[in-house]
Amino acid sequence: MHQLAATPAWASLAYLVSGILFILALRGLSSPASSRRGNRFGMAGMLIAVATTLVLHGTGRAEIAIAIAIGGAIGSVTARKIAMTDMPQLVAAFHSLVGLAAVLVAGAAFLNPEAFGILDEATGHIHNVSRIEMGLGVAIGAITFSGSVIAFLKLNGNMSGKPIMLPGRHVINLGTLVAILGLIGYFVTDDAHWVFFTVTALSFVIGFLLIIPIGGADMPVVVSMLNSYSGWAAAAMGFTLHNSAMIITGALVGSSGAILSYIMCKAMNRSFISVIAGGFGGDSAAAGGGDAKEQRPWKRGSADDAAFLMGQAEQVIIVPGYGMAVSQAQHALREMGDVLKAAGVRVKYAIHPVAGRMPGHMNVLLAEANVPYDEVFELEDINSEFAQTDIAFVIGANDVTNPAAKTDKTSPIYGMPILDVEKAKTVLFVKRSMEGVGYAGVDNDVFYMGSTMMLLGDAKKMVEEIVKTMN
Ligand code: TAP
Repeated sequence: MHQLAATPAWASLAYLVSGILFILALRGLSSPASSRRGNRFGMAGMLIAVATTLVLHGTGRAEIAIAIAIGGAIGSVTARKIAMTDMPQLVAAFHSLVGLAAVLVAGAAFLNPEAFGILDEATGHIHNVSRIEMGLGVAIGAITFSGSVIAFLKLNGNMSGKPIMLPGRHVINLGTLVAILGLIGYFVTDDAHWVFFTVTALSFVIGFLLIIPIGGADMPVVVSMLNSYSGWAAAAMGFTLHNSAMIITGALVGSSGAILSYIMCKAMNRSFISVIAGGFGGDSAAAGGGDAKEQRPWKRGSADDAAFLMGQAEQVIIVPGYGMAVSQAQHALREMGDVLKAAGVRVKYAIHPVAGRMPGHMNVLLAEANVPYDEVFELEDINSEFAQTDIAFVIGANDVTNPAAKTDKTSPIYGMPILDVEKAKTVLFVKRSMEGVGYAGVDNDVFYMGSTMMLLGDAKKMVEEIVKTMN
């Protein structure tokens, strides 16, 4: 049986280099301008880590090469085919794989401890410290797996985005978590099969229970939280496998995911605990499905009207959202911005932290269309300007502009900071129909304001028409 030997110095150095490359990758990904470079650093780091591991462990190279070829082929086909709008569910699916991998590695190590170098020769049992690492690794991995599967089903529309609330769920969840921790503690005294497999089964169940009560509008936090869990699961398995690259990478993913969850919570004005406890978005959250809406008067405008109004304006603030991503309107939008600027209009873009369906979604699309970075502003830097702005041009955004978040305590988005578009002199609102609702499934009072003009149609087509009229 192959016993894991101590890592030679050259390999530790190679792992350190890959760790540094991963840190540089994260640094690069913090801005659209440097994100490509960041990705390259990440790829180089992963190549070094995988190559080092292959050289280090002489056995099973053929099997590993076959697995890499199959996984790589599936990965590259998926990457080419996936629509930008389906990214969140793809990310959730990837997290589920990381969780499952951690469970499988822990299972393999438990069943064959000698091969993993964690068998205490004197007692014939697994080392105590390895039992804790393994117990934590399998628990976090299983929670990540089942939680991510539910997140995937919700984001992909296979399961309702509504929170599903079991009676007494807080007691059930707390009881299950305590049981898992208790059993991991007991595992140190008794490495029996039933203990390991009960921890695994209970963790699968708690992952499921933790995610089903989380409503649509809080899904951004869930995705980044699962991202963090997947990192910690990998780090725990890194200890079991004595692989420092996995420990470093897992800790980086775990902590950056935790920081992202914190930022998302702040953006949604939610406490982390309240998101985990779930239940937001109760009555009306339907992830795209809307209830019957009341009939209220609203004003419809055309591309000509929009072109005329914007041509007269001193400043236009563009508010992009998920609909811009769906229709891929970013290039046409940049062109519209160019024409407006040539006519002496000041153009700015206002980005809400959860606009679209993933963190940084709008920034990435605008960068792809070469919108100058200095025209793009975060919510807190631009929100005070709407009151002095002639036109707010809302394109495919809905929830992030909904004033109900400020006033209606029953709204699933209550408490979320929003872009104050209703304060602009005129609001031009691009969406396909009056029936469509945003992610949280709620109506928006801005549609019915006297200062709002609805521009109904596909975002890209509407902007192209506006540009044609302005030229
Ligand atoms: P949403 O509130 O989802 O609104 C999207 C709007 O785009 C809808 O009004 C829709 O109306 C319109 N639309 C869709 N396709 C269109 C097209 N082809 N042309 C024109 N309009 C189109 O988007 P948002 O304001 O960006 O808010 C984001 C929401 O997603 C928040 O609730 C947030 O919590 C949630 N969420 C965010 C994330 C992250 S991390 N960003 C992740 C998961 C969930 P019509 O159907 O009438 O066209």
